[in-house]
Amino acid sequence: MRITVVGTGYVGLVAGTCFAETGNDVIGLDVDAAKVERLTRGEMPIFEPGLVDLFSRNLREGRLRFTTNYDDAVKHAQILFLCLPTPPTEDGSADTRYVLAATREIAKRMDGYRLIVSKSTVPIGTNKEITAEVKKHYSGEFGVAANPEFLKEGTAVEDFLKPDRVVLGVTDKRSWELLSAIYEPFVRTGAPILRMDPASAELTKYAANGFLATKISFMNEIARLCEKAGADVDLVRTGMSKDARIGSAFLFPGIGYGGSCFPKDTRALVQSARKFNLDMKIVDSAEQVNESQKHILLPKLLSHFGGSIAGKTIAIWGLAFKPRTDDIREAPALALIEKILAQKAKVRAFDPEAMANVKKLLGGADAMVLATEWNEFRMPDWDRIKGLLRTPVVFDGRNIYRPDFLREQSFTYYGIGKP
Ligand SMILES: NC(=O)c1ccc[n+]([C@@H]2O[C@H](COP(=O)([O-])OP(=O)(O)OC[C@H]3O[C@@H](n4cnc5c(N)ncnc54)[C@H](O)[C@@H]3O)[C@@H](O)[C@H]2O)c1
Repeated sequence: MRITVVGTGYVGLVAGTCFAETGNDVIGLDVDAAKVERLTRGEMPIFEPGLVDLFSRNLREGRLRFTTNYDDAVKHAQILFLCLPTPPTEDGSADTRYVLAATREIAKRMDGYRLIVSKSTVPIGTNKEITAEVKKHYSGEFGVAANPEFLKEGTAVEDFLKPDRVVLGVTDKRSWELLSAIYEPFVRTGAPILRMDPASAELTKYAANGFLATKISFMNEIARLCEKAGADVDLVRTGMSKDARIGSAFLFPGIGYGGSCFPKDTRALVQSARKFNLDMKIVDSAEQVNESQKHILLPKLLSHFGGSIAGKTIAIWGLAFKPRTDDIREAPALALIEKILAQKAKVRAFDPEAMANVKKLLGGADAMVLATEWNEFRMPDWDRIKGLLRTPVVFDGRNIYRPDFLREQSFTYYGIGKP
């Protein structure tokens, strides 16, 4: 099929590449001319495991190309996937401006049937707004559908190629047939393609992210209680997770969730509900707990150094909002760094995707803070670290190290929710 992905960010690039991989003829459209130029030259602007290989092959074999030209992109496509940003507005609701602006540009150029699919995370009712926008500029036949994306940065390619489920919010048979045919190759192992109305599809995405964010904040509150009560949150977590109704995923406490989705989607869900005079207390609280969780290590740092870290140098391991990505949008590490700097301490930060030299980072630091649990941080050379730090103290913001082991090595250890 001939497909255009509108917006070549994390979602558009992965979706476009994976659609090309299954034999479709794909154009990636973006307003960012520099990005389109880089992509056309074969350069990958983001770090996403496994993406470069697929991208290079499909580019070489001519199933994938990039443009800034709406004329070409609309002429080419039977289906257009909107993979555009939906950032928060001042009150936290999702800004659909980019989605509607792109829709307008598409509609103005339509000369026959096209299916416009919103892959962006959009509030309930946006598909109706997209339909209304198309009708302002075009009077022929067309389809609009909601197909929220569930990929996770860091495993985005794998998630796209082997989704747990595909959600299709459609209002007519033609849209359903086109979209389910496109997704058929990705669900051969039996994952369901769920057909629903667009409003339910739009809400499914927010409900899923709101629930996951709540799970994390719930465990972070349990971790706070553990600290006060002298319990170990990792033991509590393991004990809970053996209940099949609870499961083991997303129960890990830490210094809070970040990224371009959870913070913005939880706020947008709360705002969406307000429009229907509904106060979503649980998700609202999950977001509030998360905001304070991002700074949870600061009091520990202050108390370790006798009330002040002024003039100290703090080494931060991990800047990305989670491992296996270069994305630092709303990363908890950045919020913590801001607080540390406000205390007049210095920060040396390292991230596997940003820098290469650990020595530069640790040499002369007073303490090490683990902020993002990259795999390469799991088994470091502790002898070397001890030699590099002025005082051997580790603040483990993701509970990845064994406190007893580090204490045996004469480190002072601070975790989250641990005695
Ligand atoms: N990043 C994720 O992990 C993820 C996962 C699921 C869903 N989503 C949702 O998908 C959407 C896109 O997210 P993203 O992370 O890919 O965003 P992104 O910021 O990485 O990419 C968006 C791209 O759209 C381009 N763009 C902006 N306006 C345009 C226009 N009018 N025409 C053409 N291109 C335009 C930008 O230049 C940019 O390249 C958001 O709604 C997000 O919530 C993201």
